[in-house]
Formats: sequence, structure tokens, C-alpha cells
Amino acid sequence: MYIVQIASECAPVIKAGGLGDVVYGLSRELEIRGHSVEIILPKYDCMRYDHIWGLHEAYRDLSVPWYGAAILCDVYCGWVHGRLCFFIEPRSGDQFFNRGCYYGCDDDNMRFAFFSKAALEFLLRTNKRPDIIHCHDWQTGLIPVMLFEIYKYHGLEYQRVCYTIHNFKHQGIGGVDVLWATGLNNEAYYFDYSRLRDNFNPFALNFMKGGIVYSNFVTTVSPHHAWEAHLGDCGYGLGHTLHEHQHKFTGVLNGIDYNVWNPEIDDYIPFNYSPDDFQTKIKNKKALREKLWLRHVNQPVIAYIGRLDQQKGVHLVHHAIYYALQREAQFVLLGSATERGINDWFWHEKHYLDHNPDCHLEIGFNEELSHLIYAGADMIIVPSNYEPCGLTQMIGMRYGTVPIVRGVGGLVSTVFDRDYDNHQPEEKRNGYVFYQTDNQALESAMDRAIGLWHYYPKEFRQLALQGMESDYSWNYPGKDYVGIYEHIRHR
Ligand code: ADP
Ligand code: GLC
Repeated sequence: MYIVQIASECAPVIKAGGLGDVVYGLSRELEIRGHSVEIILPKYDCMRYDHIWGLHEAYRDLSVPWYGAAILCDVYCGWVHGRLCFFIEPRSGDQFFNRGCYYGCDDDNMRFAFFSKAALEFLLRTNKRPDIIHCHDWQTGLIPVMLFEIYKYHGLEYQRVCYTIHNFKHQGIGGVDVLWATGLNNEAYYFDYSRLRDNFNPFALNFMKGGIVYSNFVTTVSPHHAWEAHLGDCGYGLGHTLHEHQHKFTGVLNGIDYNVWNPEIDDYIPFNYSPDDFQTKIKNKKALREKLWLRHVNQPVIAYIGRLDQQKGVHLVHHAIYYALQREAQFVLLGSATERGINDWFWHEKHYLDHNPDCHLEIGFNEELSHLIYAGADMIIVPSNYEPCGLTQMIGMRYGTVPIVRGVGGLVSTVFDRDYDNHQPEEKRNGYVFYQTDNQALESAMDRAIGLWHYYPKEFRQLALQGMESDYSWNYPGKDYVGIYEHIRHR
């Protein structure tokens, strides 16, 4: 099959979180399975150009209709660690993607509506006719809408769309002016606005809803979260829409790229190791301690890596830092906050704890450091309020770092409690799970993990090895996605 992925991120060149990892990892897996994959992305000024090989202009003067006129774009092409990527750049100055950030601008809806329109225009003008267009998250929700309302009359009539929702909280809700901008208001298309209208605000459009309604198939990133979004309280108002389209909605658990996240060959860590050579992990712990000036040598290191956001249970992350210190464990945090209040809060904590020799708070995004932390820490904590899938627990396990997680979303499907999981045999258990959102629940899981590390080191090592042996590669999810593509292609 010929598959085109359209997304706002692709690791490591554009990565704000797990979306980037997934777009890269899934594309690689599909290629390993013999399919042909191309990725279309915005060309941001702040992306990591050092990860693109052979960047060159692939299409000049792509004319993208916008508000009845046109904006000219250039499309660049290059290889990102073996994947063929196209980067769309509007001509005029700072328009849309020269903002020094990926997200967080007031006109994000317009930026990504334009990107979606330009991506379709690019497929049309270059005569690319993929079997499958795979879109990701709200930023590309308008692609199936425009494909089936506009572009199918202009030559893109046989394409099928798979739409993956990574986070229901961000839906791309905004004003109707986007209809005028994209040309969707054109009467010739008999466009029924209600299919795109937000379920709560009749004056607003909802990109994600459009993606659900128009796509041939919709997935979210774990089976448990599919249930939570459809029947629980994680759909952020889209539960009803999912219900109407449940025949084409399912959850597919993400994988992680076993080539990128592999302690045996990882270039970012000083000492490579494998399950057969587990003691080498301790050398990485020493390197991490030295780098971050952690003093005690006989304490477990607990890590948090992730966005600092309400979704991630920041109140519990904060509590975990102080509880670890109280229980003679060390804490390392690598986090990036986009919300002002949370950002200030953690900077304040960082200054307060600056002289504590058993903890280190690193605020910002740092890919290289994240690898060293995965390799050097003993435990990784993921106390999320909700978590569609979550990759950090899987990456942690791949590096023999024991996860301590809250039992929600994809965390439920990947981490099995050492002491209490009755559904898994003992040799499959790989971490610690707690359920409530209060400090006590977290403390009790941390106590169990820290206790095992201090008093039963052999058993702790066995638990870490069981995590390393769990298979969270793209192998199974890759197979599932190919099945979905085949299914919609032959309908
Ligand atoms: P989300 O996509 O919700 O942010 P995931 O657990 O799915 O969470 O994926 C997070 C990804 O981003 C992982 O690859 C993790 O290592 C990485 N990451 C998150 N925060 C940082 C950071 N501050 N520095 C480096 N990598 C980070
Ligand atoms: C989102 C979710 C996260 C998921 C990631 C990749 O950002 O918050 O749980 O792992 O997307 O699908």
C-alpha cells in the first residue's frame, strides 16, 4: 500500500510529545512491512534541522486557495532518519510556521487549517494518489472534511482516511471563518455545517469532530482509552459523536520504536546494556548522578519525564518529589510546561530545591538528557489524571526502569502491578499501579517500590527485567493498522 501520514509532528525533527514518536515509529514499522510511506509536515522555523538529511526544494509555487485568493508555498523534501518527509512552507515571511514554537499561538486553528489545505493541494498537484491518508489529532481533523467535500471532485476521489486521536482534550474549536478561508462555505459542495459544528457551542466549529464524522476509520491510542472516551468521561464532549460512529472507532495501543529506544545501541547513553548485562545499567546511574550532582550513592533514583500539565497529574508529580526525599530516595524531573501558572510553580520549586543534593529539576525539553534519565533511573513515575496511551512508562521499561503509574488509559494496558494484578501471571508483572488521585494512593505505591529496592534488591532487579522483556514494539500495533487500512481500502 501507499500511505501518506499527515501530522504536525514527527520525531526527532519535530517533537513536543508522544505524537512525534508515534508518527515516526508507525511509519518505520509500515515500511518494514513492505508499504510505501511518506510524511507531510509543516516547515517550522524551530524544528531540528540537524536531523534532516538532504533537504531540498521539491515543489515550487504551490498555490493554496485561501480566502478566495491564494497563498504560495514551497514544499521541501528530506529524509528524517530514513523516512521521506515533505515540509510545507508558506512563502510570505512569518506566516503560520515561523513563530519559534509549534503550538500555542492565538491563530492555531487557522495555521493548521492552512496546513491541511496545503497538504491536500500538494497531493493533488503532484499527482500523488495514496491508498491511505493517515491523519493525526485535531490539527489535521479538517483533512477528511475537505477531502470528501472539496477534493474528491477534483481528482482525490479514491483515497481513504484513517484518523487517529491522541488527545481528546485539544479539539481545535474555533470560529466559522475557517469555512471562508478554506473554501468549505462554497455552496457547490452542499456542505452540512452540523457535521462540523461543536456539540456545545453552536457558533463554533470543531476540527476533531469533523475528523471523526468524515474519516473512514477512527482510532485512539489504546483500547482502554477508546472505552474511556466513548463511555467514560474522557471524550471532552465528543462521547456522543463517538457513539454515533462507534462502528468505525477502536483503540490501538501505541508502540515505541525499538530502534530509537534501545539501551543496547543508544548513542545518548555512556554505557550500552541489555537484559543479559543488567549491571551495566548501574554505570549509567552513576553517570546520571555525576551529571546532576546527586550526592547519596545508596538510594534509588525516581524520575519523571513529561509535559507538566494538568493531564499529567502535576499535583502528584509535585508531591512525589517531596515524598521521595522524605523516604530517602532521589528525584530527577525533566519537564516542560506550557501553562504559565504551572511553569512558574515548578521554577519556584526548582529554586527552592536547588541546593538539595538528592534531587534535580530540569525545566525544558531535552531529548539527549531524557535518554540518560531513562537509562540511569531505577523507577519512573507517571501519575496522570488521564493518559490516552503514555509512552514514558514503556520507554522506562525498555531501559529496565520500573514504572509507578496511575491506572488509567494506556497505563492500564501496559503496566501490571507486581503485588496485586490477579489477571497476569507473576512473570508478566512489571511495575506498580495505584488508582486514586490523592497523595496517599501515590505514597503507598512509592513505598512498595522503594521498599523492594532497599530490602529485596534481587526481586527488584527481576521486576525490572520483566519490564525489559515485555514487548511494546510497533510489531503488534503495526499489524493492527495494516488490518484497518486493508479494511477501509476494500470497502
Ligand atoms: P504526551 O504525548 O502526552 O506528552 P507521552 O508519554 O505519550 O506523553 O510521550 C512523551 C514523549 O515526549 C516521550 O518520548 C518523552 O520521552 C518525551 N518528553 C516529554 N517531555 C520531555 C522533555 N521535557 N524533554 C525530553 N523529552 C520529553
Ligand atoms: C498524546 C497523549 C499520550 C499518547 C501520545 C501518543 O499526547 O497524551 O498519552 O501517548 O499522544 O499517542
